[in-house]
Amino acid sequence: MAKRQKRFQVLAERPVNKDGFIKEWVEVGLVAMDSPNDPAPGIKIENGKVMELDGKRRADFDLIDTWIADYCIDTSTAEQAMAIDSEEFARRLVDIQVPRAEIVRLSVGMTPAKILDVLKKMNVVELMMAMQKLRPRRTPSNQGHVTNLKDTPTLLAADAAEAAFRGFSELETTVGVGRYAPMNALSILVGSQTGRPGVLTQCAVEEALELTMGMRGLTAYAETVSVYGTEQVFVDGDDTPWSKGFLASAYASRGLKMRYTSGTGSEVQMGYAEGKSMLYLEIRCVMVTKAAGVQGLQNGSISVIGVPGAVPGGIRAVLAENVATVLLDMEVASGNDQTFTHSPIRNTARMLMQFLPGTDFVFSGYSAVPNYDNMFAGSTHDSDDYDDYLVLQRDLQVDGGLRPVKEDEVIVVRNKAARALQKVFQELALPAITDEEVEAATYAHGSKEMPDRNVPEDLRAIDEMMGRGTTGLDVVRALVKHGFRDVADAVLGMLKAKVSGDYLHTSAIFDDSFEVLSAVNDPNDYQGPGTGYRLKGERWEMLKDIPQAISPEDV
Ligand code: 5AD
Ligand code: CA
Repeated sequence: MAKRQKRFQVLAERPVNKDGFIKEWVEVGLVAMDSPNDPAPGIKIENGKVMELDGKRRADFDLIDTWIADYCIDTSTAEQAMAIDSEEFARRLVDIQVPRAEIVRLSVGMTPAKILDVLKKMNVVELMMAMQKLRPRRTPSNQGHVTNLKDTPTLLAADAAEAAFRGFSELETTVGVGRYAPMNALSILVGSQTGRPGVLTQCAVEEALELTMGMRGLTAYAETVSVYGTEQVFVDGDDTPWSKGFLASAYASRGLKMRYTSGTGSEVQMGYAEGKSMLYLEIRCVMVTKAAGVQGLQNGSISVIGVPGAVPGGIRAVLAENVATVLLDMEVASGNDQTFTHSPIRNTARMLMQFLPGTDFVFSGYSAVPNYDNMFAGSTHDSDDYDDYLVLQRDLQVDGGLRPVKEDEVIVVRNKAARALQKVFQELALPAITDEEVEAATYAHGSKEMPDRNVPEDLRAIDEMMGRGTTGLDVVRALVKHGFRDVADAVLGMLKAKVSGDYLHTSAIFDDSFEVLSAVNDPNDYQGPGTGYRLKGERWEMLKDIPQAISPEDV
């Protein structure tokens, strides 16, 4: 090999050069937001019915076109909205004089190609400004992942308790071993309600089991209901927009919050992108979601982030897809939930796109466990990054949804959650949680420090518990019986929420006093300086007070 220039040699060893990059490759859809195969915007409406969509006649519609044309596009404003110059509309997105309500009145009349055309006019700072104004809920928040390699329940409960205590408003788990799902759901339910009442929990698994757990009151929401931007990918998954719509209705009918999941790159990965840009296809997913009447979407490429991450402008497109969701007046849980780079610099830069403007959930989610325990394949930031994250919030005076905590307080909540779950297991005839497990979970960094459980015995007991028809009410009873009255009240509160239904509103979460915060009672009213969400007052005092900062009195 030729003699190496030493700086290039050093650069070649840098983490960013372990990442994969690819030049645009239009035929397979490896293009962020500008493919020559993307259609031109256009609509024809006759008698209130969409007869032509982005240059395609109704007779040629695929399943997704039909679904969007019939159920998403507001035909009462479509002609007016489509007539607005795209650059002019893009300017309105960043114009503080134009209120959010006026934007979304028109955006819901637009076609996929039109929305693409608008977003293509915007740079990342403008997209962030649009996000700041358009996200439905004024108060930003955060979602966390709570999983571990062993599916060990006591650690799940302790980790969920700590995560809730640190401020996440939603927590999700998933499984290593599928049959563990109900036990994992139960563990984070008890843990989360110990850490902070009102934290919503879910367990991402196979759809029928996930719905069952929700109906039983073991979970409070669902999110991983996947939708796609081309018909072939849908059909390959034995699904249609109608089958997904049916599932969404099943959740709604039982008072369970839910959102869909989609993201740029999935169609490329499955080999059916039809040569279209990733953002165009993702906008179709956003509109499929809107058409189903679903209140929100987890998007931002999600598990496919390596694909947009590899092409030019890909991370800009990921921000643009988050903006597309709020532009269509839906809640956004904005990704940042999967490792995609070896470079800490690149990792943080990608996250700032959502962190700075604030979204409904900046991460969907942040790994509240060390990444080696993250069964969602690892998130961009994990529990070892907590202090960096808290310092970023403090440096920039930005609310990313987490608060500083003290070690002794965390030990107390972790221990209480572990003990509460121990008693619940006893009452539900699940294999005992030992005192050794409680102690280990209280002080553990991760599952490596946890004793092994008897897995076959756990799985048999879980099947029996589900066979007996155990519900959230049994959990409440067990907690009351053993003196965990406050945790019992919180679990009961989650069950009551499904009856009152207030948390089915767009962007709903519960605040520290179990009150719903949503687009209805906490609407984003950003219209420039002095308006919208401001990190100030008590909340700022709390977030800036990191324990490691010295005070004047200490000097
Ligand atoms: N499109 C659709 N669904 C996705 N998921 C993750 N990324 C995407 C995407 N880009 C869903 C999958 C996965 C879960 C974590 O979220 O169902 O199992
Ligand atoms: Ca998530």
